[in-house]
Amino acid sequence: MSQEFSPKLEISKSRVNRIIINGAFVYKQYGNTLLSNILFNRERKNLRYLQRFDFIPRLIGYTSTSLKLQKIEGDFIHHINNPSPNIVAGIKANLDQLHNEWIFHLDLRQRKNYLITRENKAYLIDFESSVRLSKCGILRPIAELLRIIDTSGLLRFKSRYFPSSLTQKEISFLKKYNNLRKLWFFRPFKKRKGDVI
Ligand SMILES: Nc1ncnc2c1ncn2[C@@H]1O[C@H](COP(=O)(O)OP(=O)(O)O)[C@@H](O)[C@H]1O
Ligand SMILES: [Mg+2]
Repeated sequence: MSQEFSPKLEISKSRVNRIIINGAFVYKQYGNTLLSNILFNRERKNLRYLQRFDFIPRLIGYTSTSLKLQKIEGDFIHHINNPSPNIVAGIKANLDQLHNEWIFHLDLRQRKNYLITRENKAYLIDFESSVRLSKCGILRPIAELLRIIDTSGLLRFKSRYFPSSLTQKEISFLKKYNNLRKLWFFRPFKKRKGDVI
């Protein structure tokens, strides 16, 4: 993989990784810190498992610190004019499939982790925070909590881009969840521009 690697366009850089687009592929390269290593391994393992789903980019290959992924020809929701509300129903159906297998994305509040194609198909990306639990009864309460975290991420997305389609039940779920997040010790809740709840 490294031989064919010829960087074309670096589109994002974070504390732990950088993203380079080269033709039809995306390269997610991690640094050499302990945190980078942990996140890289988690994303690689998660992505390998997730290849059974068609709303996840194909994992073409990997080295010890980088992933080669199918580049999704899609855009962020906030770059799309008049996005269709059907997008949310599609994402919800996909999320249900993940949750049925006890896989939790856990970073769905981040709108840049959804890529929407011209056909209104949404891909989920960025599985470095994701968790896959073994299906055993004792972990059920944790699974339930993680499911709530993902649901709140998707509802936040819905509340920002399709507020009029939120149901009363969803609004009260979001209000309760946001109140809980205010107590969050590690990462206090901050209302952002565009948040309606
Ligand atoms: N498979 C992909 N296809 C197209 N763009 C991608 C793909 N993977 C990542 N990107 C782009 O790179 C950005 C960062 O990727 P992401 O996996 O979310 O990394 P990070 O952990 O830095 O958030 C995304 O918001 C998106 O713009
Ligand atoms: Mg991301």
